[in-house]
Amino acid sequence: MSLLPLRHPFTYLLGFVALCAASLSPLSANAAESDENTLVVYSARKEELIKPALDKFSEKTGIKIALLSDESAKLVARIESEGPQTKADVLLTADVMNALRASEKGLIKPVQSKILTKTVPAALRDPENKWFGLGKRTRVIFYNKKLVQPSELSSYEDLADERWKGKLMMRSSSNVYTQSLLSSMIATHGTDETQKWAEGIVANLATTTTGGDLDLIKAVGAGEAAVTVANNYYFARLLNSKIDSERELASNVGIFFPNQKPKKGEMKGAHVNVSTGAVIATTKHEKEAVALLEFLVSEESQRFYADSNQEYPVNAKVHMSPLLKSFGTFKGDTIAMSDIAKYAKEAVMVADKAGWK
Ligand SMILES: [Fe+2]
Repeated sequence: MSLLPLRHPFTYLLGFVALCAASLSPLSANAAESDENTLVVYSARKEELIKPALDKFSEKTGIKIALLSDESAKLVARIESEGPQTKADVLLTADVMNALRASEKGLIKPVQSKILTKTVPAALRDPENKWFGLGKRTRVIFYNKKLVQPSELSSYEDLADERWKGKLMMRSSSNVYTQSLLSSMIATHGTDETQKWAEGIVANLATTTTGGDLDLIKAVGAGEAAVTVANNYYFARLLNSKIDSERELASNVGIFFPNQKPKKGEMKGAHVNVSTGAVIATTKHEKEAVALLEFLVSEESQRFYADSNQEYPVNAKVHMSPLLKSFGTFKGDTIAMSDIAKYAKEAVMVADKAGWK
């Protein structure tokens, strides 16, 4: 966790206090003396990817930003424990589940912005405009090209079939990406069918050792498993890696967009998730906070995001990066993000019951 002072010397003080608060108690954060004019952004985005965009925003508007980076769930917990004294003005999450949690706990507020509602498609934002998708990603199948032919692949549902026994690696069920996928399964199939699917998946696992999405794709590249499911931008990162051995592993891996020709009842396209932005309920800087979210969906900012983090832009005027384009076009599941978020609790229960570690 770190807090980067971006513009103003006073943010150094805030940075120091918040840094201490991060490792001590939440109460220390309440005591932080922040500059009245500093917008405090709690962000789960990779720091080197979000900071240039925030710098640009400060440059354009003169609004100073203090950035606190951590995992989405920890940031939500932190805002909750800091209560009304929180210094946070904006929350940026890496997935929709944590935006929903923040919303359920009353930590974020609805905002009125024609720019946001016009730019971000309805399916990619909260119906009450409490959170907005800022970047789209797909969670797709990766396969070892020596072990699997793309013709053998079809859908997420099919990965639970026993012919994949001992050949599959999956992200842990404590991970929000897995929970989102499980939630959309529940939204499509209901809880009972999803339970059977989760049990099939667990029975097919090559190993219970997982790791992050990057580790999964690398393991498939190394032949430790034949197939896995991960977010597309991790594959892009591996292909662009400065490390020769990583690029070599990536060259063994193929990307497959599942559920493009779904059988009856199957999910209707590749699973889509969003990174999100939201305004904290207790902010005293709502205008500036909304201006930041508007900037993050602007063409300039979206182009930067598409090219640097390899996410699909939410702004329809911005094209996807050449590398994402090379992965091919695909049909995304049409289910609304808010519907996926609805089944978060059931998803965790299903995974637990299935013994999905
Ligand atoms: Fe990620």
